[in-house]
Amino acid sequence: MDYKMKLTQEQQDILNGSKGETMAKIMKTLVLYGDAFEATEMVPVTSEKGHLVTSFGLKVMKPVHELMQKLIDEGAISAQKFSVDPKPLDPNVPSDFLKNFVFNKFMYSVQDMYDVQLEKLGLIDKKSYTCTCYMDEVGNKPNKGEILSWAESSAVNYANSVLGARCNRNSGIIELFGSIVGFVPYFGLLTDEGRKATWKITVKTTKKPEAQILGSAIGMKVLEDVPYIEGMNEWLGTELTDDVCAYLKDFGAATASNGAVGLYHIAGLTPEAVELGDSLLADGYKEYVIDDAELQRVQDNYPVMWKDKNAKPELCFVGCPHLSLAQLNEWTDNVAAGLKKNGLKKVSVPTVFTCAPGVKEAFEKTEGAKKLAATGVVLSYICPLMYMNNPLAKKMAVITNSNKLRTYTTARYYRSEQILDIITKEVK
Ligand code: F3S
Repeated sequence: MDYKMKLTQEQQDILNGSKGETMAKIMKTLVLYGDAFEATEMVPVTSEKGHLVTSFGLKVMKPVHELMQKLIDEGAISAQKFSVDPKPLDPNVPSDFLKNFVFNKFMYSVQDMYDVQLEKLGLIDKKSYTCTCYMDEVGNKPNKGEILSWAESSAVNYANSVLGARCNRNSGIIELFGSIVGFVPYFGLLTDEGRKATWKITVKTTKKPEAQILGSAIGMKVLEDVPYIEGMNEWLGTELTDDVCAYLKDFGAATASNGAVGLYHIAGLTPEAVELGDSLLADGYKEYVIDDAELQRVQDNYPVMWKDKNAKPELCFVGCPHLSLAQLNEWTDNVAAGLKKNGLKKVSVPTVFTCAPGVKEAFEKTEGAKKLAATGVVLSYICPLMYMNNPLAKKMAVITNSNKLRTYTTARYYRSEQILDIITKEVK
């Protein structure tokens, strides 16, 4: 079979079966995938660790589990250790008998088996289930210029934009294949040309824009293109501090889920924008100006998917993508102060904050853990989207400050300060 891209002798040998039939098939899949995107060659994956998107032992995904078992049986395990997206279940998260029955007997009944498969394939450790694998407490943080084989949209977006690593928005399984064989097709966001911006965004707001709404506005406008954003230094400064990185994590996840952005540049702040300035703008770029009115218009247009639009909130999720340690501390202080101000002891809506297991462990060693527990908020490592991915959750009045969760489920979006207000006041 003829391929359009150039292959090295080593890659050609793998295709011809030098490392066995399974490796040959994996290589062939990657080459065909690359050919479809007009990749010119296959390049080595240079990051130390990988990251997989498929974290759930969903019974209906039998073909995936069979494929994983075949890879294990034939020794085609990952050349690099990897982290994986968050788990769907945690016994601490509020649930009821019916939901537990559906989760455990029908939906995620093969979770334990799948966890064992992941370990055999190269999972870093039992704590490596999070979409924010790049947090210090998790330890899968790629360096600038490294080539990755990841697929989780929020993590790919962060790695490209904030860390300056290089990764396409791959699909699940394709990213595992890249980690197994150690090569990925060279196209799109791996190339200098593909990292140029075809949109110039000018932010002209009178106050710091809510990260999740700004990201949503940009994502819906540019779709899968690369935006170059000006006007943010007033609000974010020029240093990638922990607070700024947490803001960019939430902003980027919204661009990636409300659109399909895999990379953005922020003038004077993100690594390539600092290095190359507006020479990153491609010829013929389009423009979009965002002011207060535009952000309000965007939020006002979010549909409310609840059956009863006036229902009392039954559950609140904060932490999609997973919260950083600093965000967790800030939310804890704000919830405690809000309750005190309103004369309440516990949050008025069952509330779950989600973060990486490593962040949870670090937080639990601090005084903040007792303070948070006293407010009634549950701290968990799950993915709220996986929790809500079933017909029972669709009927619940869930609120969130995550634009990703709003986009993929029936959860209703509120800005962070609105969420704080709702959960720390008596529900009428
Ligand atoms: Fe992470 Fe799940 Fe949200 S993977 S970004 S918590 S949908």
